[in-house]
Amino acid sequence: MEQTLSIIKPDATKRNITGRINAMIEDSGLRIIAQKRIILDLKMAEGFYEVHKERPFFRDLCDYMTSAPVIVQVLQGKNAIEDYRKLMGSTDPKNAEDGTIRKAYALGIQENSVHGSDSPENAKIEIGYFFSDNEIIA
Ligand code: CMP
Repeated sequence: MEQTLSIIKPDATKRNITGRINAMIEDSGLRIIAQKRIILDLKMAEGFYEVHKERPFFRDLCDYMTSAPVIVQVLQGKNAIEDYRKLMGSTDPKNAEDGTIRKAYALGIQENSVHGSDSPENAKIEIGYFFSDNEIIA
């Protein structure tokens, strides 16, 4: 079994659609084995997106991610990382396929409703960023 870190982002919590996104996650066969609703402070957001710190969108991204609550969650499945990335769809919702979360709900390339880890190495780091082992109940 594999685990991945998911974030339901501020555009989605603001629109009260976190349950609908969770339904898409569960309908796809992934299991939500840890979940909490938090408000990121700037330090947490900057640390999480550290790899993007030289990108022109970094400041806006951190401001957006701290603008409203987020739901951080651990998803489990046989190929959780790749399966969740497929379910999310392209970063830019203009390119997202039918049936994906971003096609259904994302507002734009930044306000794209969800984040998912992109590799096993990053999944481990990202899960550890938000959860201790005893908060993850498989
Ligand atoms: P995420 O998958 O969480 O990874 C980085 C985030 O930066 C991305 O989703 C978007 O929310 C945001 N972002 C804003 N502008 C861009 C851009 N031009 N390219 C990629 N990501 C962007």
